[in-house]
Amino acid sequence: MLQLSNRLAWSLMALLSVAVALVSYRYLLGIGPLAPDILRNAFRNPWLNLHVAGAATALLAGPGQFVGPLRRLRPQVHRWLGRTYAAGCIVGGLSGFVLAWGSTAGPIATAGFASLAVIWIATTVQAWRLALQRRFAEHRAWMIRSFALTFAAVTLRLGLAVLPLAGMSMLDAYRAMAFLSWIPNLIVVELLLARQRGLAAA
Ligand code: HEM
Repeated sequence: MLQLSNRLAWSLMALLSVAVALVSYRYLLGIGPLAPDILRNAFRNPWLNLHVAGAATALLAGPGQFVGPLRRLRPQVHRWLGRTYAAGCIVGGLSGFVLAWGSTAGPIATAGFASLAVIWIATTVQAWRLALQRRFAEHRAWMIRSFALTFAAVTLRLGLAVLPLAGMSMLDAYRAMAFLSWIPNLIVVELLLARQRGLAAA
């Protein structure tokens, strides 16, 4: 039963991640609807393209890393996808940090996205370091935290679709989601990790 709900949750997470990543690449190609407020970001050039290239690639590379059989049967694939993921997070995080200071949505959005960028890079570097030290249980836990932050790209877009339906202006929704796109994700994964530690100790 738990297996089935885990698989369903992973499938939904992977589907949403791939969809947001593929749609985001439109910024690199300059096609489709591009958000005018984002194009007015003071640091758009060259940071927006770097950000989309790195962050969307991390979002694509991430989900497969949590598939146990792939890790066990194809460790080389896991390693290369992991390097691609970590490089994507670092490029996406550094450029996201710069973009945060040029947001047209003001200081609240800057604070939310800049904090996210710093924590995103820190959790990813920590996870990578632990893999190099072959401390795999801790590596796994930190990669789960890192991906919860990568997934902020998905929760941001879900929040921006839902909050205006509750009567909030788009600008207020955007400012709120600069924090709400990632803090709840971190709380959820901390609860999951605590439950796993409890089960392992039982
Ligand atoms: C997790 C850390 C992330 C941070 C700190 C971050 C930060 C930012 C910032 C500051 C902006 C500009 C916002 C503005 O000007 O108001 C932006 C835009 C954007 N980001 Fe990220 N981002 C992150 C993750 C991602 C991921 C994983 C993707 C992958 C799809 C992504 C894709 C985009 C896109 C496509 C835009 C253009 C805006 C849009 O159309 O929604 N970001 N990001």
